[in-house]
Amino acid sequence: MLRMENAHVVFHPQTDNERVALHDVDLHLKKDDFLCIVGGNGAGKTTLMNVISGTIKAQHGTLFLEDEDITNMAEHRRCAMIGRIFQDPLKGTAPHLTVLENLSLAYGRGRRSYFQKAVHKQDIAYFKERLAALGLGLEDRLDNEVGLLSGGQRQALTLIMATLIPPKLLLLDEHTAALDPKTAERIMQETERIISAYHIPAMMITHNLSQALRYGNRLLVMKDGSIIKDMGQQEKERLTIAELMHDYEIFS
Ligand SMILES: Nc1ncnc2c1ncn2[C@@H]1O[C@H](COP(=O)(O)OP(=O)(O)OP(=O)(O)O)[C@@H](O)[C@H]1O
Ligand SMILES: [Mg+2]
Repeated sequence: MLRMENAHVVFHPQTDNERVALHDVDLHLKKDDFLCIVGGNGAGKTTLMNVISGTIKAQHGTLFLEDEDITNMAEHRRCAMIGRIFQDPLKGTAPHLTVLENLSLAYGRGRRSYFQKAVHKQDIAYFKERLAALGLGLEDRLDNEVGLLSGGQRQALTLIMATLIPPKLLLLDEHTAALDPKTAERIMQETERIISAYHIPAMMITHNLSQALRYGNRLLVMKDGSIIKDMGQQEKERLTIAELMHDYEIFS
């Protein structure tokens, strides 16, 4: 469903600071793939997601999403199809708007006429249903400003917002790294539940190797702008954290 071929990204080309962040990367994602990506700092993981989301443009290479060539599609057009969650819980939501307003914004994304209408009753019922499934009581806080929520609650809300209209692809860039271990675990479980319930293909970057081994059906290891290993379910199941750290020089 995602086909990236030969994606090549160089920052500051032809200067002393030249840096090849992605080195002719090929990546094929199947429907229902939940792909974890690990690799040391500066390996090119975020750059890979930036190319997919259209945040940066590769020097060369092609990108297809469900048979549509999106290589040159603008980022704002892609975001209706590709959801993305970042490490910083403050990034995905507007703090001075209420939970309901944030959800309404997310629900309207990609639908031009949405703001001309009031929020429908059935929309609110759907928002509440999605929030209630988190088990955090957020469904009773629709009128609260999002800035009043904790980091974990905000990240949970971001997860719901990113999947309110299930995207064609969900990109998770260390989305639990800023949370305490218990909250991180809870958000991970919710992530997995939502991905599987709505059949959303997903890519998740993490420095948490036990998370990388436990979740998803594929594991990529990146180093120096290249994918140095692409493991399927069975290989991943056999792998230990110690092997992952040792064989690929990843330090948790
Ligand atoms: N906008 C940019 N301008 C210049 N160099 C950049 C830019 N973005 C990334 N780089 C460089 O490209 C390389 C890959 O960076 P990237 O952010 O993709 O790494 P990463 O694998 O996500 O690392 P981390 O685990 O630290 O988040 C790094 O050397 C980084 O300094
Ligand atoms: Mg990164």
